[in-house]
Amino acid sequence: MTAQIIDGKALAEELRQSFKARVEALAAKGHRPGLVVILVGEDPASEVYVRNKVNGCLAIGMHSEKIVYSKDVDQQVVLDKIAELNADENIHGILVQLPLPRHFDEEKVLEAIAVDKDVDGFHAENVGALAQGNPRFIPCTPYGVMKMFEKGNVDLTGQEAVVIGRSNIVGKPMALLLINAGATVTVCNSRTRDLKFHTRRADILVAAVGKPKFVTGDMIKPGAVVIDVGINRLQDGPDAGKLCGDVDFASCLETAGQITPVPGGVGPMTITMLLANTIEAAERKAGR
Ligand code: GUN
Repeated sequence: MTAQIIDGKALAEELRQSFKARVEALAAKGHRPGLVVILVGEDPASEVYVRNKVNGCLAIGMHSEKIVYSKDVDQQVVLDKIAELNADENIHGILVQLPLPRHFDEEKVLEAIAVDKDVDGFHAENVGALAQGNPRFIPCTPYGVMKMFEKGNVDLTGQEAVVIGRSNIVGKPMALLLINAGATVTVCNSRTRDLKFHTRRADILVAAVGKPKFVTGDMIKPGAVVIDVGINRLQDGPDAGKLCGDVDFASCLETAGQITPVPGGVGPMTITMLLANTIEAAERKAGR
């Protein structure tokens, strides 16, 4: 049987429409939600992500601006800007696009962001709150995946969930959210022995590997819910230049129960949840 496709693009659009009323209600009280995105360097992929984040805000009536620094900027310049934004009443969310150039201490930069403006959920205090099961800001990509489970009526309780990837941005927070939802969670990485043994047991499989078409049909359990977090640009072959995920969609389609496409799956949900977190930050500040 062919898998049901979880349409992230449609869900993202539905949620973004629903956000407009919240934005206008806040604006009417003098708290128009505002997000600043800081980009250091000229990584083309990061430039696209940052543009999409800013435009996503503007499209629903939020305030947003990007601040761009050259790749060799002194870290202190960025820290000073973050301190200024922390004190700015009109800014509710601050995001520093990752990765940062090598001379940066990433942890120090993330810790400089005020906890109540950390809409990425990467500050140690917010990570700790998530680990304790009382999240304040949930990192946007795994948050988007949870919304997709909700939309697809996927009951996570007691399910075997396998996450491939252990990054701070996706793998680790994804695992925490699945644990909090009552799943039995295994986190695999590039050194995992016999990856297929794990993936074939998974009722829920989340791929956040960064390798195109890494998960193939023979690696998944019949009926599994397969979530593809990867966004890779194919380098060669007939599809060169096209986007593809970490999952070989064609070979998994017949075996999976539900599956997310790339593009149009998790990608649009990530920015949507960034908007959600920023609106949430503004609502908290406005005292609801
Ligand atoms: N780089 C890739 N994904 C993300 C993200 O969700 N937030 C930030 N700040 N940087 C990223």
